[in-house]
Amino acid sequence: MNKIPLLGTGLNGLVGSKFTADFADKYDFDNMDLRNPLRPVDITNEKQVRSVLTASEAKFVVHMAAFTDVTGAWQQTDDENGACYKVNVKGTENLVKICAETGKHLIYLSTAYVFDGEKKERYVETDKTNPIEWYGKTKALAEEAIQNSNIDWTILRIDQPFRNDAFEKVDTLHRVIDGMKSGKLYPQFGDHHFGPTYINDFVKVIDFVIRQKMTGLYHASSGESWTDFEFAKAINETLSLNFDVKEGSLAKYLETSNRPYQKNTALSIDKIKGSLDFEMGSIEEAVKETIV
Ligand SMILES: NC(=O)c1ccc[n+]([C@@H]2O[C@H](COP(=O)([O-])OP(=O)(O)OC[C@H]3O[C@@H](n4cnc5c(N)ncnc54)[C@H](OP(=O)(O)O)[C@@H]3O)[C@@H](O)[C@H]2O)c1
Repeated sequence: MNKIPLLGTGLNGLVGSKFTADFADKYDFDNMDLRNPLRPVDITNEKQVRSVLTASEAKFVVHMAAFTDVTGAWQQTDDENGACYKVNVKGTENLVKICAETGKHLIYLSTAYVFDGEKKERYVETDKTNPIEWYGKTKALAEEAIQNSNIDWTILRIDQPFRNDAFEKVDTLHRVIDGMKSGKLYPQFGDHHFGPTYINDFVKVIDFVIRQKMTGLYHASSGESWTDFEFAKAINETLSLNFDVKEGSLAKYLETSNRPYQKNTALSIDKIKGSLDFEMGSIEEAVKETIV
């Protein structure tokens, strides 16, 4: 089978590297990455992005590159010359502009941090964005740039992604496992709700979007809502780690922290779930697949 040419950014990252590994037989990946020794691409450099997109036959660009260090981003608040704004906003604007010039479809990975976290239920796609910190703000600005363009676009919002194997960047699942193994896991918030995303399943959603040429804004986590405390307990029991998980409080923590935290980032995936042609597993099943 001839492989399908596919352009991507951030394909060396936590999510991207799983996508390229699982779909290596299907797609001929061309990664626009700073680390590519033969052809380094900085997405903040419009000329470099134009040169790659113009020369490529790929119809889709899967855009996963981002400044993802949320605390580092917070330290750059309001700094439009900072790396976070440049990569997340300017980089995305460059991709939008050149996708318009070259007629390519942009698939953008976004985050539940575009919301303020004050909602009690899971967020739906029609909920108003209202980021409370700089990373979320820059991701929301990037979403706006995409939505205000005339290109074919898909935005997939996820939350707290994790995969079944350990990766250089420690994910939500492995942070808990590592904490338990070292005996240093902090008490886990019982009043912080999030919507874990199992990357092994999520990469199939990206493939689905490409296969169906699906456009629009979608939430694509697991659709479940967990507290940190419940999640840690499930990991402890499922993987028999024999750790005494203690419950902590985000509300208490916020009394001493300057950095804002969203209290709830769980996402409803009802919009996308009905159209998928494969089953997304539960988070409980996902934890069972962990390679320890
Ligand atoms: N991880 C999360 O908790 C989370 C949650 C919700 C949404 N998301 C979104 O999901 C996407 C993927 O996240 P991730 O955790 O997989 O990311 P990641 O592991 O932090 O990787 C980010 C990638 O972006 C690349 N990059 C950074 N600046 C660049 C630039 N100027 N030009 C080209 N490439 C650049 C990095 O390249 P190098 O490797 O060369 O530095 C890296 O490969 C991001 O859009 C993120 O906002 C992530």
